[in-house]
Amino acid sequence: MSYRCTSCGYQSSKWMGFCPQCKVADALEEVAGPSNRRPTAAPLPLSKVGESPPERLRIGISEFDRVLGGGLVAGGVILVGGEPGVGKSTLLSQAAGNLALQGAKVLIATAEESADQVGMRAERLGIKSDDILLLAEGDVDAIIAAAEQVRPDLLIVDSIQALAAAEVSAASGSVGQVRECSARLIRFAKETGTATIVVGHITKDGSIAGPKLLEHMVDVVLYLEGETDRGYRTLHSLKNRFGATHLVGLFEMDEEGMTEVADPSAAFVADWQGSVAGTVVFPSISGKRALLVEVQALVGKPVVTPQQLRRSVRGVESARVHQLLAVLERHAMLRFSDREVYVSVVGGMRLTEPAADLAIALALASSLTNRPLGRMAAWGEVGLTGELRSVSHDGRRSEEAARLGIKTSIHADLVSRRIESALAAAGLFDD
Ligand code: TYD
Ligand code: MG
Repeated sequence: MSYRCTSCGYQSSKWMGFCPQCKVADALEEVAGPSNRRPTAAPLPLSKVGESPPERLRIGISEFDRVLGGGLVAGGVILVGGEPGVGKSTLLSQAAGNLALQGAKVLIATAEESADQVGMRAERLGIKSDDILLLAEGDVDAIIAAAEQVRPDLLIVDSIQALAAAEVSAASGSVGQVRECSARLIRFAKETGTATIVVGHITKDGSIAGPKLLEHMVDVVLYLEGETDRGYRTLHSLKNRFGATHLVGLFEMDEEGMTEVADPSAAFVADWQGSVAGTVVFPSISGKRALLVEVQALVGKPVVTPQQLRRSVRGVESARVHQLLAVLERHAMLRFSDREVYVSVVGGMRLTEPAADLAIALALASSLTNRPLGRMAAWGEVGLTGELRSVSHDGRRSEEAARLGIKTSIHADLVSRRIESALAAAGLFDD
């Protein structure tokens, strides 16, 4: 007897109440057929597997290709997630346009917008090609049938939440529909070797509606992020079965769609005013690349009632900021507990590296004490006891800062591994 997860395909010899791989409840189903089946493919010696990397179809948008690990892979299924309006459809129209220029065939299935809307966007973006086929359709089987006929090099489905499979009675966007439609698209992609991009909207709290279950099923998960009111957009890889994760590509959104930003560090620090309090540069590492970002903090005047206390954090985890505030209070005698605190990463970047701790702490302390840091870069992980831990890539971080004219850097190895020493070195703490 054998069981298979209807959500992620996990195989098990015994039944369980939930799938041990994707954690979806009641998803294991008995697989019909005798358990002494013959294997359909012959097992291979491990040494013979993976000798040649998969062939890549380059999109021709280099930031996009880089984040993918070199381009599209035949049969690979990519989820492009992002909040509504961030630019997913725009970026993918441009990807289709670039691929068509190279003679590749693209099928865009739009379940959300009408064909006219997609056509008008393409026209605005200057994309015109007979190799891009449009299908306004929300039925997943109809899309697959069309793809079987067209045999595109890339199938784009926009969006998974607007799709439905006829046999599933639930509404579009429900967990059941999202799971079933994704499963069918993935099966089609694998069986035919069609590279497939699936668009998924995420809600404000960050989860792809029709939960995280999509992430388990697809090969690559990319997120497009940014502030909808501002120009910059980051595309980063959260998961990639064919390449490295946590790569970031940077785009700027304007009337001509998404343009790649050639020198993101220069773009991010272009408007940077090192002469005011509450700002410092953090050289982040994304993949193999160093990228300068500006971390800002604003600490308000003491408030009288705790109800007035606002804490707002953008671009870093707020738990991280709260921890840093506690460490600064305890080890540097800086009092934040009765003040409003705002922290933000300029340009819509999201920082996940613990290395950003020191930059956040310095920005906070600089704003509180109203002492500007000047043109300064900082990095290091701050522990609960106020220790400052060194992080990887010191050299690359310093070099990137120096390349853009920032000569002062503060990191663990320079300041005896204490937060107080780092603050003193930055001129924010008199001990
Ligand atoms: P869109 O790609 O439709 O977002 P998503 O598919 O993620 O929901 O882009 C939506 C916004 O982008 C919309 O407000 C208009 C703006 N936009 C530009 O600024 N420049 C452009 O060239 C295009 C096509 C759209
Ligand atoms: Mg869209």
